[in-house]
Amino acid sequence: MLGDMSANAPDRPRILLDCDPGHDDVVAIIVANHAADLVGITTVAGNAPLDRTTYNACVMRDLLGLAAPVHSGAARPLLAPPLTATFVHGESGLDGADLPAPTREVDSTDAVGFIIETCRATEGTWLVPTGPLTNIALALRAAPDLVDRIAGISLMGGGTFGNRDVMSEFNIWADPDAAAIVFDCGAPLTMAGLDVTHQFLVTHDRISDVDAIAAEFGSKFAAVLADLFRFFADNYISRHDDLAGAPMHDPLAVMAITHPHLFESSRRHVAVETRGELTRGMTVIDRRQIRPRPEPNCTVLESVDAAGAWQLVVDAVRTAAPSH
Ligand code: RIB
Ligand code: CA
Repeated sequence: MLGDMSANAPDRPRILLDCDPGHDDVVAIIVANHAADLVGITTVAGNAPLDRTTYNACVMRDLLGLAAPVHSGAARPLLAPPLTATFVHGESGLDGADLPAPTREVDSTDAVGFIIETCRATEGTWLVPTGPLTNIALALRAAPDLVDRIAGISLMGGGTFGNRDVMSEFNIWADPDAAAIVFDCGAPLTMAGLDVTHQFLVTHDRISDVDAIAAEFGSKFAAVLADLFRFFADNYISRHDDLAGAPMHDPLAVMAITHPHLFESSRRHVAVETRGELTRGMTVIDRRQIRPRPEPNCTVLESVDAAGAWQLVVDAVRTAAPSH
């Protein structure tokens, strides 16, 4: 059932990144800026409260000199209580580095309106959510026509095991009702779950690649990134028995579109548990070899060429470093 995703990788696909920066969201921004046409960044509460994830997105936009607008969105899930992951990313949502204050303000507080307008104005945009799916669900509810206008949704979330609960990955766990709307919407879906993201770790060895770029170019951006990576890696190493670094979750949702040859995947039916006492926020992935079974609705990333993915991150940092 594993397929090679190498076919039809479009040159610089149009991407709208919906995120909750977040250390790995930052890498998603860097890779999207390097390999795609990043038409906009929308923010959602998740790793930290909305004011912090939005501030962090604006910091990274300026640090990278991006033209893309930043629009803030949902401050809380559709129904679930607002909960964060500050124990992973720090109180700021982006602890570990001396971040320069942003020079540009957020462009609006209407992320949902921006998502709808952008996807209606130019068909074939990829929505790439790397945080809780609240903004995406609200946009799909307000504009069901988006399903036929977008190229698809490539999300980071889910998996066959959890990180916020036994069976629930944080992005899905934080707003399972929004996730259910997205997985049921009918648009082309790609899912970068924990099974694949835990194959792609930022280790101290790999961080030394970024340190070298910072030294070579005197790059503030690369130096900040290396410090963020160190914080993130040490946090994960301290909390896991089996990880030698931090999984670089979010950039894989971008690379699935820009560099599909780095992955193997399978077509599966995926649904979200919204009521389970022990499994609320679980992505229920149908791997049964039995018929009848539901038609697949999602391309599930199964494996990644981690060395190739890291080289892509290094290339993206090296390209940005000389001028930032
Ligand atoms: O479970 C990992 C996901 O939750 C990543 O997107 C990380 O940034 C956090 O949002
Ligand atoms: Ca995230």
